[in-house]
Amino acid sequence: MPKNTGITYGIRVSAQKGGVGTTTIAINLAAALGLMGKKVLLLDLNPFKPSVASYMGLPNSKVGFFDVLFDGAELKDAVVEHSPTGIDVVASSKPLEWTRVLGGLVGKKTDFERIVPEITALGHDFVITDAPIGYINEDMVKNFNEGLVVLSPELSAFDVTPKLVAQYAKLGVSYHVVVNDIGSEKASVDVKKIEEEFGNKVVAELPHDNVVKKSIDLHIPAVLVDNKSNFSKKITELAEYYADK
Ligand SMILES: Nc1ncnc2c1ncn2[C@@H]1O[C@H](COP(=O)(O)OP(=O)(O)OP(=O)(O)O)[C@@H](O)[C@H]1O
Ligand SMILES: [Mg+2]
Repeated sequence: MPKNTGITYGIRVSAQKGGVGTTTIAINLAAALGLMGKKVLLLDLNPFKPSVASYMGLPNSKVGFFDVLFDGAELKDAVVEHSPTGIDVVASSKPLEWTRVLGGLVGKKTDFERIVPEITALGHDFVITDAPIGYINEDMVKNFNEGLVVLSPELSAFDVTPKLVAQYAKLGVSYHVVVNDIGSEKASVDVKKIEEEFGNKVVAELPHDNVVKKSIDLHIPAVLVDNKSNFSKKITELAEYYADK
């Protein structure tokens, strides 16, 4: 997170359109890095659609991230170990009222900066977050080293993604782009067109793969369900890219 620590590298995984695989990519990237022996903290920063704990097969924790952000709970009490991968996970929280979320997050300054040193003090190599669509405030973006922008090859995702990319650029936060779910029935945009739009920022192209649905049904990350599946191989390559950083 703070760029001068030299230890923790913060990756904010998010999309400008829902349902394109943001949570799937956040948890499998985190899991793959964990399986490589990296110390990883996976944070569910999505107050609207919290699904990290469910996708990872973790029980609902008593303390979630938004209990820390809004109610002064201690971050360390929210950390749960996912023993199959060795990564630490902080779930979102119980579903919150929209007004509560918006009241706490809208605006340039939130309490997030208070928590950044607590996150960094945990001493992970990587902090990976499953973030909500677009961005609501600046400090929950600026405190990450980079944004990993997810889109699928659907027109509805392709058309809106430049908006998120432009916001990263405006804030001076570097970003990469992941194209997910290539080859699905829903795909309508040629991957070449996406490559032309985002150029060398495209850091991974992930296939449509039934292992993803199976992993969600089983509450086990895809990289553990079948590490030889096409999806698992590609997300492991992405993890290797970050591991070498
Ligand atoms: N590569 C893939 N192959 C097959 N199915 C996929 C793939 N990626 C995502 N999916 C499917 O798309 C659906 C949405 O995935 P996921 O929950 O990760 O998306 P999301 O962007 O986090 O959604 P939300 O906006 O609800 O938070 C899931 O049902 C998942 O099985
Ligand atoms: Mg999600």
